[in-house]
Amino acid sequence: MAISSHADSLRVFVLSGSQRAGSVNSRLAAVVARLVDRTGATSESAGLRDFDIPPYDGDSEAQRGQPRGVVALRDRIEAAQGFVIASPEYNASMAGAVKNAIDWVSRSRPQPFRDKHALLVSASPSAVGGNRGLWALRVPLESLGARVHPDMFSLAHAHEGFTDAGDLADPGRYERLAGMVGGFLDAVEADRRYRLTLRWNEVFESGESAPAARQGRR
Ligand code: FNR
Repeated sequence: MAISSHADSLRVFVLSGSQRAGSVNSRLAAVVARLVDRTGATSESAGLRDFDIPPYDGDSEAQRGQPRGVVALRDRIEAAQGFVIASPEYNASMAGAVKNAIDWVSRSRPQPFRDKHALLVSASPSAVGGNRGLWALRVPLESLGARVHPDMFSLAHAHEGFTDAGDLADPGRYERLAGMVGGFLDAVEADRRYRLTLRWNEVFESGESAPAARQGRR
């Protein structure tokens, strides 16, 4: 399997959008996180259940600001160059808790999703694997300026899709997912290098002293 190496570590936040202990999306998120780490990039994993996020309420926001759980989630997204969401599909759309979390986080300034790279995956016991939910999930993220990776991965029949060790049972699906994660990381890395080049150009034009390489990262 061809998979790129990202030794100068990219940080990727991998979020399961499920609240359930036995979640198939959390299991898929764990597979993605291991694939990220295998390339030399660094994954950080969490589930929505790790963040205490109430339903969005404009009055509460006006009086008390963002809840701590929202701030914690926002910080995880901001600290990464890219993020992955493994989202359950409910009634042919994304899970409401996922949309609610996006709505809250989108209220931060600067708006954390802008120009952030996103990869969307889903798992479901159904034959569609939650894919319709991912198309719905693209809408708010793209509207917020996230760079949503063109390819998406949906694991159908997910209740029988994992080995006891937590890997994908089907080698072909695993290869496809691995290739997709590699392509996503390549896109994130290319953007990081482009921004670094822009920064260097600014420095040369302004006569500032040279920036450390990491200043070009987002
Ligand atoms: C579902 N489920 C579901 N699955 C699917 O592929 N398409 C769908 O439209 C729906 N709709 C739906 C609605 C509601 C209210 C529930 C509770 C469930 C099934 C769902 O994908 C399944 O329960 C997954 O196991 C949920 O993901 P986690 O929690 O296992 O990650």
